[in-house]
Amino acid sequence: MKILVLHGPNLNLLGSREPEVYGKLTLAEINESLGALASELGCELETFQSNSEGALVDRIHSSTAVDGILINPAAYTHTSVALRDALAAVGLPTVEVHLSNVHRREEFRHHSFIAPIAVGQVIGFGCDSYLLGLRALFNLIKK
Ligand code: DQA
Repeated sequence: MKILVLHGPNLNLLGSREPEVYGKLTLAEINESLGALASELGCELETFQSNSEGALVDRIHSSTAVDGILINPAAYTHTSVALRDALAAVGLPTVEVHLSNVHRREEFRHHSFIAPIAVGQVIGFGCDSYLLGLRALFNLIKK
């Protein structure tokens, strides 16, 4: 089994970016924890971060030989019909994750274009959102 992990814009700055909101872990550390969990579960991971909407769309299109997608679309969650359409087009089971609890934040963060095409969301648990999301996606694909 292979899972594609996508990180959206500004997540490359994790560690120094608003640590009171997003925590102190860097993206490399989050990817490392995901890698450790993937080895434990026995699945393969591919991770990709981009600040560009088009690059994320292209990466989704080229997701052949991938069984599912774990995505933190970051700000594109709230703006991107293109990202949603790309995910719908490939039709892979998708789990949406967020480090922060977007529903406790500004109103513009309450709407997700991705949620209606995702199998589920894990929100507000920092790095654990990714780890819980990976576990849930793994279990879902395994069934
Ligand atoms: C985020 C929440 C988004 O609203 C924000 O734009 C991000 C990060 C999160 O993981 O909490 O960049 O997706």
